[in-house]
Amino acid sequence: MKKTSNKVVLIGAGAVGTSFMYAAINQGVAENYVLIDAFPQAAEGNALDLADTMAVLPTSFTSIKAGNYADCGDADVIVITAGRPQKEGETRLDMVAGNAIIMKSIAEEVKKSGFKGITVIASNPVDVLTYVYQKVTGFDEHKVIGSGTTLDSARLRRLVADKLKVSAQSVNAFLAGEHGDSSVAVWSHATVMEKPIFKYIEEGKISQAELDQIREDAVHMAYKIIELKRATFYGIGVCLTRIVKAVLRDEMVTLMVGAKLNGEFNNKDVYTGVPAIIGKDGWSEIINWDLTKKEQEQFNASCSTLKESIAKAEV
Ligand code: LAC
Repeated sequence: MKKTSNKVVLIGAGAVGTSFMYAAINQGVAENYVLIDAFPQAAEGNALDLADTMAVLPTSFTSIKAGNYADCGDADVIVITAGRPQKEGETRLDMVAGNAIIMKSIAEEVKKSGFKGITVIASNPVDVLTYVYQKVTGFDEHKVIGSGTTLDSARLRRLVADKLKVSAQSVNAFLAGEHGDSSVAVWSHATVMEKPIFKYIEEGKISQAELDQIREDAVHMAYKIIELKRATFYGIGVCLTRIVKAVLRDEMVTLMVGAKLNGEFNNKDVYTGVPAIIGKDGWSEIINWDLTKKEQEQFNASCSTLKESIAKAEV
């Protein structure tokens, strides 16, 4: 008998975590929600505020509360957004030392709780911290998912759509590798309304130079938003909801998540953004695309950058 009552535990009730929670509640993703935060009042206050939606939401849910690690034991999914947010002008990798210490502590507590479900992580630098969490917990790597380049790819899709004046939903474009400055635009696999993007170049609707600029704009989008409003949270919040929904509905859909390479894309022993199939058991398979020579070189460089940062995490 399929479980009908899904339980999601959020660790980190800050702007990213609560944006995820708000999106998940509005999309009717689960029935039971728990918020955990190093500052209990933040968890309590946000739980009460979100509970105020129950009577008026079109999608009902059973419970939402502030809790602690004891609530993880029977959870289906844990979402981790805890950690210091990126400051103006700072790279995500600059945060590795301090946030790795926080992630190790969280990993130990989750392991002690007896949790057996799927973990989805967005704390930055997300590729490195997902690796740290999986190492420290010793959980099956397939059951540990990073937000990867879901948000990066969503930005790329929107920017291509704006240029071609089509719906972002009809654009399949991908940034792979680090969720950050070294991510790789895999134009060789991009399509718009099912047509390869190169057709649009041939038809003069977009140029390679414009695509290159779009990649730059997507990669620097977070910096621009942080400069304007000090933090990003709505985009990543909805991307986390997309991943959690795919897990809880066992969708077996391909998303650009953080998965652990074991030879795919000619790299291994690193978590990074790649196309992977997402379902009830986490990421079940990485879709090992053929890349162009240039894309492969850029992807290798991105993985090398991440491995240097993993070394700094001292895990
Ligand atoms: C961003 C954060 C989630 O890219 O790293 O907005």
